[in-house]
Amino acid sequence: MENFSFVNPVKIIFGKGQIVSISDEIPEDARVLIVYGGGSIKKNGVYEQVSSALQGFTVYEFGGIPSNPEYSILMKAVALVKQHKINYLLAVGGGSVVDGAKFIAAAAKFVGEPWDILEKKAPVDSAIPIGVVLTLPATGSEMNGGSVVSHAAKHQKRFFVSPYVMPQFSVLDPTTTYSLPPRQIGNGIVDAFTHVMEQYATYPVNAPLQDRMAESILITLIEEGPKSLKNPTDYEVRANLMWCATMALNGMIEVGVPQDWTTHMIGHELTALHGLDHAQTLAIVLPAVLQIKAKQKHEKLLQYAERVWGIKNGSDENRIATAIAKTREFFESVGVPTHLSAYKLSFKDVESIPDRLIEQGMAQLGERQDTNKPVVIDILKACI
Ligand code: NZQ
Ligand code: ZN
Repeated sequence: MENFSFVNPVKIIFGKGQIVSISDEIPEDARVLIVYGGGSIKKNGVYEQVSSALQGFTVYEFGGIPSNPEYSILMKAVALVKQHKINYLLAVGGGSVVDGAKFIAAAAKFVGEPWDILEKKAPVDSAIPIGVVLTLPATGSEMNGGSVVSHAAKHQKRFFVSPYVMPQFSVLDPTTTYSLPPRQIGNGIVDAFTHVMEQYATYPVNAPLQDRMAESILITLIEEGPKSLKNPTDYEVRANLMWCATMALNGMIEVGVPQDWTTHMIGHELTALHGLDHAQTLAIVLPAVLQIKAKQKHEKLLQYAERVWGIKNGSDENRIATAIAKTREFFESVGVPTHLSAYKLSFKDVESIPDRLIEQGMAQLGERQDTNKPVVIDILKACI
């Protein structure tokens, strides 16, 4: 196992009826800005629960954060924060709202051009405290320090990571997910699954605990994912799905092991260029990465085939190919197509991606930094 240090200070408040407890978490004298997305929270009762929990608090609102949160919109919230001397942000929504709140929190305290935080990785050294009421199990943003922001005018989608933007608390009430359309549930399953794979499908370092934790998240997603689509108001199923998504990217399974975020890095470019949902990009790219890097990932993919999919017979190559095919089938079964062609895209539409990655300093990706431009081109060709 590799050396590591680990801290995760996010308080998770999990379960039915827990939104009311936000009033215990936010300081009474706080000036709170509630940030939310396109309005789903006003239709499913979440907004009412938040408003009634915050009675007596000084509250402002900022709605309209879109999926793949947009820099120019978030900057309007930054102006509001400064105008009203906001000192607490409450993000109510999915990953885009949580990520948006993280950027607002950092940008409001940043000296200089806040886009530098994303594009130039300018260091963040303070942020407004954030609380979260999560309504979409997918990104893990509710329990990590990552944030991904898009810049439409520049056709960029970039991330930053800072301990200062880790939420102080996150309320995870699985009943808030009942109103999600099937597309977003499918997206959430694929996103969480891919997060685990990018921390697991590398090479062995004798870390059996991290391996088994990763495998148990994958197996639980395979078992509960389809049920969550079939029975959208089954509380137990939604609770399991929600906790899987959080555990997939809260730092627990990544400690002491190599990681390969190639799928996400290519995926972000696909969204920046063509506006695909985050998880749609992952469903396309992950099977292609596993296929093209099968040799380098040989041992872990064999383990994945056996322990996650129960594939024990056949040659090594066959078992790995079957496991990749099962991964693809699983994504398709939860409603997320896995080929570029299904989104009416061809190789021509994505051929700029290798150079776009190089421009960002990502000439070499992968757990061994051996995914260079020709390999990325092979991966993109395998996405068609
Ligand atoms: O905007 P509203 O009206 O709220 O509607 C949203 C949106 O249309 C809707 N929705 C959310 N909760 C709902 C609901 N509709 C009905 N009932 C509910 N309970 O769902 C749609 C999608 O929401 P969004 O927040 O965009 O989805 P998701 O949670 O998948 O977040 C995706 C974003 O997170 C980033 C992605 O790149 C993308 O920008 N990621 C963030 C990560 C992180 N911070 O750690 C890691 C991930 O890899 C990912 O990159
Ligand atoms: Zn993701």
